Amino acid sequence: MKSVYILIAPDKGTFSPAMHNAAFAALGLDFHYDVLPTPVDRLELALNHLRHADVAGANVTIPHKEAVLPYLDSLSDEAKAIGAVNTIVNRAGKLYGYNTDAQGFMRGLAACYALEQLPTSKVLILGAGGAARAILYALNEAQTGHMSIFNRTASKVEAIIQDLQLSNASLVDSTAIAQQHDVIINTTPIGSSDSSPSSSLIASADLPSHGVVCDIIYRPAETLLLQTARSKGLTTQNGLPMLLQQGALAFAMWTGQEAPLEIMQAALLETLT
Ligand code: ATR
Repeated sequence: MKSVYILIAPDKGTFSPAMHNAAFAALGLDFHYDVLPTPVDRLELALNHLRHADVAGANVTIPHKEAVLPYLDSLSDEAKAIGAVNTIVNRAGKLYGYNTDAQGFMRGLAACYALEQLPTSKVLILGAGGAARAILYALNEAQTGHMSIFNRTASKVEAIIQDLQLSNASLVDSTAIAQQHDVIINTTPIGSSDSSPSSSLIASADLPSHGVVCDIIYRPAETLLLQTARSKGLTTQNGLPMLLQQGALAFAMWTGQEAPLEIMQAALLETLT
């Protein structure tokens, strides 16, 4: 049997095991996906475990996505540019790091927005953490017309613009300009069940009258931001498509097989409800 792990802080939860184990079972693969609770000071030990022949690879999540970089043998161009890894593949004891969040987000977005429009679109990103970095990288690769970035800590936005060499991006100091955007993406925890379910970074009056609003939060399934946007007639998308698609891309790398998306989605929905 081949093992796949998710390296995660011991006090954090994840829905990925249900999604991947359902997919392995559906394709009759002798694989199993397990949580590997990993405190920060045990990260190197956990990574060494991944080098064993019976381990296919791993996901990496809070708070290790950036910290794993120095321990890996090779990084994809994407992971290197973003500065974060969410997927590791073990090839003959060598660890290869990838970032499937970027492409996963774009695959999700494609379901509700014609990506060919991006070069003439204005996109507003809320937040400047690891998820925002991956999404901005993907939007930049897609030659998005303009990216406005709003964040509590302005210096983090400046660092992202510099690190990713974003020539079509700017820091904005208020979400009151949301109306001028075609796509709005929340990457902060504001609105999540664990953080502040009754909060939103954008007031209803500041939302545009048409366009798409995405939230990478999937618990609750509809954040206050998405609820407000939907009631104004905007197209909305929660974080499930990104979670599903980043997982599907990782699954294909570990197994060499195309991921059974419907099975994975059903497993996620069942676990979330
Ligand atoms: P992830 O890796 O999921 O992106 P992260 O790196 O912790 O998570 O980033 C979370 C983002 O949400 C950050 O931009 C953070 O703002 P700061 O850069 O100022 O820390 C933002 N965020 C988190 N809690 C917030 C809050 N209570 N109000 C506003 N922004 C918040």
